[in-house]
Amino acid sequence: MDIGIDKIGFYTPNVYVDMEKLAEARGVDPAKYTIGIGQEKMAVAPLHQDAVSMAANAALSILDEEDKQAIDFVLFGTESGVDHSKSGAVWVHQLTGIQKGARSIELKQACYGASAGIKMAMGHIALNPESKVLVLGTDIAKYGLHTGGEPTQGAGAVAILLSQNPRILSLDNDSAALTKDISDFWRPLYSDYAFVDGKFSNQAYLEFLSDVWGIYKEKTNRDLRDFEAMCFHVPYTKMGKKAIMVLTEDADEADTERLMSYYQDSVYYNKQVGNIYTGSLYLSLLSLLEQGKELEAGARIGLFSYGSGAVGEFFSGTLKEGYKSQVRTEAHEALLESRTELSISEYEEILELALPKDGTDIDIDHKEVKEGTIYLAAVKSHIREYVN
Ligand code: COA
Repeated sequence: MDIGIDKIGFYTPNVYVDMEKLAEARGVDPAKYTIGIGQEKMAVAPLHQDAVSMAANAALSILDEEDKQAIDFVLFGTESGVDHSKSGAVWVHQLTGIQKGARSIELKQACYGASAGIKMAMGHIALNPESKVLVLGTDIAKYGLHTGGEPTQGAGAVAILLSQNPRILSLDNDSAALTKDISDFWRPLYSDYAFVDGKFSNQAYLEFLSDVWGIYKEKTNRDLRDFEAMCFHVPYTKMGKKAIMVLTEDADEADTERLMSYYQDSVYYNKQVGNIYTGSLYLSLLSLLEQGKELEAGARIGLFSYGSGAVGEFFSGTLKEGYKSQVRTEAHEALLESRTELSISEYEEILELALPKDGTDIDIDHKEVKEGTIYLAAVKSHIREYVN
């Protein structure tokens, strides 16, 4: 059965920080952030945007009435969950008007959560060919002010609709996965900020890539020449370049040039948004689909997902005829262009804002919310109130 991505869209909050200005404020050469790390702008989440509202906004941008009636599974991948018990998927289900006979759950494994959702969706559709499954990857990446990870923060969500006979990307049933218990990045329940061993996380990411690629090649007999382009989890865009360098270490020039030639297109959106953890790989795929030249139907795209802690997986898909007419390039460019730049002091204030931890009621300032955007309006009697 042909199963894969039928629709894909994203949402990011409407404020950002300019990376050159952040570098200046931190006494760092701006080229370190823009070239060494590869980021131009960093999305910042105001208090009225959390993992739930961002995912609902991403989902609303792609779903029509027919989809809402056909979706019977909502899979919410995040490491920025807002409740230990209730899944973010339940709120998204309600906020987007998906038919009531659906199941809705949350998935967690650092930046790998949405990929786990895609794997589950494929199995579900194989058993239930008429189903459509909504997979969400939504996160706020926060390391804190004046930390090593500060230039690699960001916020946003990707929504992916999977079905049989998809119109964008058919997914191959060919993946290679790996799990290892390591401490490269984690966020204890008591902390608003992630803990990270930055250098070790880079090294672990690249080792996982090398290992799963080796397993994948053995399993499938495929090699670099079988891939038109590759997309990677991009916590910061330089990481994608490092990943291509690992894969092409012994490759011939043609393979290296081809993969590198798609790299800039595949990180165009990530450069302007920053790290969105579990959605980052899919934001990169969307960037390639929308910002790259039209690729031939059947062209194979490799996808590498990495979630610290750690799980890695390499899998692939082939493009469908006419996929360019199914994506929403203009809307996504307008979303990025309509954002407002924050001064460094405004950014610092927003980043440190948090909901009360003692259960006090709060009304959240949402003066800046654009019409039609879902947001968190209040927390009353320990219950979050979202407004659509
Ligand atoms: N001009 C151009 N490049 C410069 C530069 C300058 N003036 N100054 C430094 N650089 C380059 C460095 O050479 C380095 O490149 P390389 O990675 O190709 O070697 C890069 O910029 C980063 O510099 P580095 O000194 O390593 O940065 P850092 O110690 O501040 O740490 C991270 C960078 C990414 C490790 C840190 O931001 C972090 O911990 N982020 C969160 C964790 C993460 O995203 N992990 C990814 C795997 S999941």
